[in-house]
This record gives sequence, structure tokens and C-alpha cells, in this order.
Amino acid sequence: MKITLSVLKADVGSIGGHLQPSRALVHEIRNFIRSGGKDILIDAYVSTTGDDIAILCTHEKGVAGERVHRLAWDAFRSGTEVAMKQGLYGAGQDLLKDSFSGNIKGMGPAVAEMEFEERPNEPFVFFAADKTDPGAYNLPFYLGFADPMYNAGLLLSPKISQGFTFRIIDVGYTENDKIIDLSAPEHLYDIATLLRDNQKYVIESIFSRSTGGQAAAVSTTRLHNIAGKYTGKDDPVALVRVQGEFPATGEILAPFEIAPYVGGFMRGSHVGPLMPCKLNSAISFFDGPPIITGAAFCVREGKLTEPVDVFDHPFWDSVREDIAKKAQTIRRQGFSGAAMLPYSELEYGGVVEKLGELEKKFKIRA
Ligand code: F6R
Ligand code: MG
Ligand code: MG
Repeated sequence: MKITLSVLKADVGSIGGHLQPSRALVHEIRNFIRSGGKDILIDAYVSTTGDDIAILCTHEKGVAGERVHRLAWDAFRSGTEVAMKQGLYGAGQDLLKDSFSGNIKGMGPAVAEMEFEERPNEPFVFFAADKTDPGAYNLPFYLGFADPMYNAGLLLSPKISQGFTFRIIDVGYTENDKIIDLSAPEHLYDIATLLRDNQKYVIESIFSRSTGGQAAAVSTTRLHNIAGKYTGKDDPVALVRVQGEFPATGEILAPFEIAPYVGGFMRGSHVGPLMPCKLNSAISFFDGPPIITGAAFCVREGKLTEPVDVFDHPFWDSVREDIAKKAQTIRRQGFSGAAMLPYSELEYGGVVEKLGELEKKFKIRA
């Protein structure tokens, strides 16, 4: 059976600042999807990561299916009404357009989707990150799909030893989608050359070279490219099919132990380690640190199992302690140098205006 796996995610308001959506808001969106999705979806799972709400769903409407996108848009709108009633902070924050125009992409919410022929057993992991941008997946997915130091299957399994093809998008180019396909291992250095720049080149999807099957999909929206100004960090979601012709679940999880320094954190303008957290975690220290959650599922004829929380394990407790120290280490240097994002990425207009004013006061020494 051919199914589509879609995840549509937005921040439409949260409690106590940009920390976590309210129970009433999640309840509203869950109910909206349950009743409105009866004839559209096969199954759905609604969850939160930091201040974001994600609708993971299965259906047969294909990628960019208009009815699915409209349902999610309407659910976020109706959630926004609850958020307004409760006085939640940032109500409707990610809904950047007034009316729905057929596809939720480019309207604020993040989207990752894959259509595929279901395998007899179909495991996958749904990732959601908060307080960061889509480049946060670059290093973990590069390592999980292309580096035998993390992916033992590249050496040990004939099913994946041919490697994977990375589709990389230039998110700085806003007129249209500007993409390149590069295959590992032949073009490993070219892939690394692009992926080192997390704010410009982002993994959009990954494909198996032995079967051609799609392994991964990442939401690549840059909110500031839509709104032209700061409206919140992109907070990307991703879907990864695992096992068999794809990496094992553990091979995909292993690189997250590094907790790479990523862009985001306070006011979307800093650098902090990406901390793997339990499902439905809130935000705290310095509006961060940037977090990622992972829910593993199996799906059969579109019906989802219950999720397994991939970062809820004693192993990750000890990793989180190290990552907290990593966060403190970079925070100690405050605004200086590598602790903040470069000028081109600063999300708040304030510093840009201030620099403009200061520029006028400079004098050229005679
Ligand atoms: C970052 C984020 C927060 C806010 C910060 C200020 O993505 O959401 O760090 O930028 O809390 O928020 P405002 O400007 O809404 O008061
Ligand atoms: Mg927010
Ligand atoms: Mg968020």
C-alpha cells in the first residue's frame, strides 16, 4: 500500500513566554484533527516540542495534498483562537498569511512529507527540534547516513553499502527551490563542503542508492525568508525511515550524542548545543537550549503504533548532563564572537539598526 507520512508543525502560542503550549491548546488541535480528519487521514499523532505543536499524520493524498494541508492550517487557526482566549504568549505566531492558498508550505508552519510503498514492516522516527533552524540536522544526518564511524551498516550490510544520495537545498535562495543531488561515498567531500554552512545549505531529503527509496525528509522553511523579519526560529521537523535498506534506528540516534552547536537559542540569535530531550519537553535555560525530541513508530496500512520515546533512556540522562555543561561553557562568553550568530543571521532588527546609527558616528582619521 502506498501511503504518505506528513508532519506539519507550528508555534501558535505558549505558556510563560516561548516555553510550552497549554493543555487546552493541544487538546483543541487534537480534537480538530480527530473530527475534521475523519475522511482525510488514516491516522494522526499530535505532540509538542518546546513551544511547538506537531501534527504527524498518515494518508493517501500524496505530498502537498491540499486537503491535508488545509486541515492542518484550520487546526492551527482554531488552536490560535484557544491560545488567544487563554492569553497565551505569541498566539498565532507562525501563521504568517491571512488565508490558505492550497499548500501550507511558505505560510509559516514547517512541513516534512514522504510518500512511499509501505514495507511489510515499516519503522520510522519523527524528530522535532525547537529554538533552532533546519541546518541543525545537517551534521547528525550526514554522520548517520554517510559515516561508517556512526553507521556500521555501511561496512556490514550489503543492503546499504552502496550509500545514500543527499538532496541539499540552498535556503538562502528564495525565488524558487535551488537544489543539488550528491551521492555518498563518491561525493562525500562535496557534501561536507556544503553542509558545513548550516544557515545556507540544508539537507532536504535522503534516498537509498540500492532501492531508490526515500529515507528522510526535513522541513526547510526559513521563517525570516517568508516574513522578511524575525518571527521566531524555524524549529524544524524531520522524518526518517529506518532498518533494512535504511540505517538502523540506533545509527540515526548515535550522532545526536555529539550535541552539535547549532544556531538559535535566545532570540534566535545565539549558538548552543542541540540537546536530545524527552517527548513533550518544555524550554528553559536562556530560552533553550536548542532541543530535539524523537518518536519512533511502526506503521501498517497507515495505522500508527504508539510511539517509543527514543531519548527517554538512562544513556541520554548522562549525555544531557554533559550537554548542559557544553551549554554553560558557550553561554559564559555572552555576546562575544562565536557565542552569537553572524550579523547576516541576527534575527532581531534592533542590533542592525543600532549598527547603522553607530556607522554614521564613525570618523575617518586624517
Ligand atoms: C527564540 C524565541 C525566544 C524569543 C524571546 C523574546 O526562538 O522564541 O528566545 O525570541 O523570548 O521573545 P519576544 O520578542 O516575543 O518577547
Ligand atoms: Mg514561540
Ligand atoms: Mg518554537
